[in-house]
Amino acid sequence: MNKTSKYPLFFVLFIFTFKLVLAQNSRMIIPSEISMNLEKEMQEMGSELSADDIYNPNMLSINDAVIQFNGGCTGEIVSPKGLIFTNHHCGYGAIQSHSTFENNYVKNGFWANSFEEELPNPGMYVTFVRKIQEVTNEVLNGVKDNMDENIRKSLIQKNINKLLQTIPKEEWQDIEIKAFYDGNKYYAFTVENYKDIRLVGAPPASIGKFGADTDNWMWPRHTGDFSIFRIYADKNNHPAEYSPENVPYQADKYFKISIKGIKAGDFFLIYGFPGRTQEYLPALAVQQKVEVINPARIEIRERVLNVMDKWMKNNDTIKLQYTAKYARIANYWKKWIGETQGIKKTGAVEKKKAFEKEFIQQIKTQNLDKSYLLIFDQFRNLYDQIKDPELARNYFIETFYLNNDFLKRALYVYQLEKLYEVEGKNAYKKNKEKFKSYITPTFSNYNSALDKKTFITLLELYQNKMPVKYMEGISKDINIKKLANDFYSNSILNNKTQLIKLLEKNPKKFIKTIENDNAYVFLKKFIDNYYNKISPDYYSLRDKINRLQKKYMEAIIKISPTLPYPDANGTLRFSYGVVKGYEPRDAVYYYPISHLKGVMEKYVPGDYEFDVPKKLIDLFKKKDFAPYSKTGQMPVNFLGSAHTTGGNSGSPAINKEGELIGINFDRVWEGTMSDLYYDQKISRNIMVDIRYVLFIIDKFANNKRLIKELNIIK
Ligand code: ARG
Ligand code: ASP
Repeated sequence: MNKTSKYPLFFVLFIFTFKLVLAQNSRMIIPSEISMNLEKEMQEMGSELSADDIYNPNMLSINDAVIQFNGGCTGEIVSPKGLIFTNHHCGYGAIQSHSTFENNYVKNGFWANSFEEELPNPGMYVTFVRKIQEVTNEVLNGVKDNMDENIRKSLIQKNINKLLQTIPKEEWQDIEIKAFYDGNKYYAFTVENYKDIRLVGAPPASIGKFGADTDNWMWPRHTGDFSIFRIYADKNNHPAEYSPENVPYQADKYFKISIKGIKAGDFFLIYGFPGRTQEYLPALAVQQKVEVINPARIEIRERVLNVMDKWMKNNDTIKLQYTAKYARIANYWKKWIGETQGIKKTGAVEKKKAFEKEFIQQIKTQNLDKSYLLIFDQFRNLYDQIKDPELARNYFIETFYLNNDFLKRALYVYQLEKLYEVEGKNAYKKNKEKFKSYITPTFSNYNSALDKKTFITLLELYQNKMPVKYMEGISKDINIKKLANDFYSNSILNNKTQLIKLLEKNPKKFIKTIENDNAYVFLKKFIDNYYNKISPDYYSLRDKINRLQKKYMEAIIKISPTLPYPDANGTLRFSYGVVKGYEPRDAVYYYPISHLKGVMEKYVPGDYEFDVPKKLIDLFKKKDFAPYSKTGQMPVNFLGSAHTTGGNSGSPAINKEGELIGINFDRVWEGTMSDLYYDQKISRNIMVDIRYVLFIIDKFANNKRLIKELNIIK
């Protein structure tokens, strides 16, 4: 292309947009909305891909080789027989579920040597998005800004329901409709959900989880965070429930895998399903999050983790039981700490305030609706009000739902009791199996004495920190320890056989028994307070804030020279960047590529986070890396400047030619505030180098069957 022509254009754009640059903070693009400018911008960064190469519902494109993995992660198709790469931490539940003491696939890894050896995973599914279309006019048909909130919501729902009936689709497809830009736009997705997904391969945790919680959210990183699955389909290649008759899915589009190698500055694309970002919050909301909400959540989890850690250190059985729970709780605990620090360090709140000043100015100059000028005062008023209910809601959810099994059971029992009271016997009967499937897992990998300790820790904190208004009927000076001793020995909530048996009985018997259970009667007051006070207070304000946020977003769109990219909402997006290091602090520079050498530097024999399999050490010593690396160094992970978030795990990292070069799995510590404020200077995504993945499959696991199945470009 003609290089000189870009400068004048760039210059004009620059002058026009420099003050509004913050509005362009999200870098997550809807694949059906690639503009010519964007295509060009990517090409200037080195891409050779056209918009049609990335997404085109009428022909094969990258889009056809990417799936949402089991609702929460991303994965990519890497062979004509439906083979999937995703992260180890995304496949972990499945790997664990097939593991026994004798065949511990978490510890030793798992490699299927034939289709017959591939292991089915009931309940697991993957989703292809076949088509994306904007349906804003249809969804907002008849909807007025000044409508009562409930009327507005139900009209929108009615319009959506109608669309779900009328958008054409094949029999094996589904339609999903999602709000974008805080409800200013809507898109419909034609999807296919495949439900027979089998485990094909996984490295041992000492590779797939190397560095575990200590290295989580950190660079330099050395984790082989990948696992391998396969889609099975019916004989027409359509989705089907598991059946031994099913056959490997025939993929018309799959990724070729490049082992040509990467270097700093190389263009790449991340294509996947980012869960949630909030780039367009007002400054004061971000401030509230990092000054009030995050510290509370961090404190709760920190206390729970301290208890777990102490018990896990002294007891190997407990360590085994609680490793996964610990990792889950620690993951966001650590993220919130990084996020809070990152917001402060980047001055995100001040930058947002500066943007808001400019926003007001633009509304005036462009002579837009005067009511936009009131937005920040209205935000202030609402965020002041929601502070307590929001805190209370967090205390409740962290305590009763996320960090303790006994309390979680009380919550489920409460929900079932209410269901019976409100909807009657049939609803109870219809749902009791579902509740059984919620309650049963709270008894697996469970240590009652440890759970009792976290119960005491959590409820004591609750007593001290919960806004008084939301503690109605509960005395502040109850001795939680004494109660806990009684509850954990005598309550039916701590007796699996009895509790499950009780669910089978008729609902009257169920109610009678639990209403006579001391623990349940005590905890019910807390749960009542949540459903009767905290939740209604919270949601009535949340609705108002959402309405105002929609208006704010609408105004941002109006004053922005080009349409900003929408926040992540669990739908298909791509983002792009270059392989790039960063400066975490003054005088320190982090290089963007890590190597097997670094695994050996971190190696601590026998350690649960930093042990290394002997075979890997041997391969390292022999430098047996060919053909995946010829430099004598085996690359492991690399950094890039693409905007990603939770849900992007497992996303393909794609080079300028559309080939797979890595699998996304994390972000760096200094940039974890990117969900609220993405900063190109220090926000980086972390990927496993695909050459490391192939090296592990080939040299470490010696699985030639899989290597032959892949299309490797040298
Ligand atoms: N931080 C990454 C993500 O948010 C990886 C999480 C898995 N690892 C862990 N130690 N919990 O999901
Ligand atoms: N580790 C995250 C995930 O599981 C990715 C991220 O938050 O960057 O999706």
